[in-house]
Amino acid sequence: MKMQMVTCVAPVNIAVIKYWGKRDENLILPLNSSISITLSPTQLRAKTTVALSKDFEKTRIWLNAVEQNPDNPRLQNIIRKIKHRAFRCNGEKNGQANKEDMLNWHLHICSENNFPVSAGLASSAAGYSCLVAAMANLFEVEGDLSGIARLGSGSACRSMYGGFVEWDLGHCSDGSDSLARQIAPCDHWPELRALLLVVSEQPKTVSSTLGMQNSVNTSELLRSRVECIVPRRLAELRASIAEKDFEKFAQICMKESNQFHAICLDTYPPIGYLTEVSDQIIALVHRFNKLCERLKVAYTFDAGPNACLFLMEEDVPRFLSLIRHFFRPVNNGPENFIHGLPVDVPRV
Ligand code: PMV
Repeated sequence: MKMQMVTCVAPVNIAVIKYWGKRDENLILPLNSSISITLSPTQLRAKTTVALSKDFEKTRIWLNAVEQNPDNPRLQNIIRKIKHRAFRCNGEKNGQANKEDMLNWHLHICSENNFPVSAGLASSAAGYSCLVAAMANLFEVEGDLSGIARLGSGSACRSMYGGFVEWDLGHCSDGSDSLARQIAPCDHWPELRALLLVVSEQPKTVSSTLGMQNSVNTSELLRSRVECIVPRRLAELRASIAEKDFEKFAQICMKESNQFHAICLDTYPPIGYLTEVSDQIIALVHRFNKLCERLKVAYTFDAGPNACLFLMEEDVPRFLSLIRHFFRPVNNGPENFIHGLPVDVPRV
């Protein structure tokens, strides 16, 4: 059997200014712009292989070795968009007949993550950005791909770029300007580290899609956040990154996380993503910062109980020893395991 095949790896990104709430469900257009940090793909990552052959009888997809329904509308949207761009880009180059043939062939897609999925660790961001990168490579599509990744899961558009990334909410009703762009490169702030503490590997109880819909419909806090708070915080965070001002960065980061979870609680019925262990991590960070008489560690939590901590490289050993003192690994795991999973210290 003759086939063309491409494999790509993509990293997760951690939002500092959170995206929560859509103004268009189908085009996945956010209510507010967001800023994230893309972690190194050498640690938490999705790996996706896409194969194309005229001998495949139907399109099939496997996620972590379990076959999924390929009729998922988000997956179909991505396939359609990539093929449409391929048609425009490569039409003349490949010749009409060949081009049309290839676009009608079926795909086999195989994706795996090396960390828990749906546990608030940005697995969908890594997964969809990886799929888009692999498909674009296969069909020789060039240019910005963040608008296509966005159609898989909003936050996926930010994983198309490394370093510090802003996803602009955009203003066009067709979503053509709701794109991600790098605001500072990977090596801009080399001392910054991310520490991921896995509190639970369980999938989240309320998906981000449903959670966002409920928040948009019921939370009054969300409305004032979008209108008054986010625009100011975006400007402040951009400045803190440009100036490498960790204290300023840390304060915005923790306030953003707290406000996001306050909105989840303001949603009716309320959504509680954090657990007692998450609260203990928050308390430990504040106690540590108070003892140091300055902000040395910042936490942020997405739609799940798992923590992402940001800190300077020089502070990692000291803070990690505190974490190991207060939080015991489960299942008698090795010393560097907390709750059964490796404590990751990715470069950002
Ligand atoms: O892209 P989604 O649908 O998985 O939503 C992501 C939402 C948060 O992770 C909570 C925030 C963000 O900006 O990534």
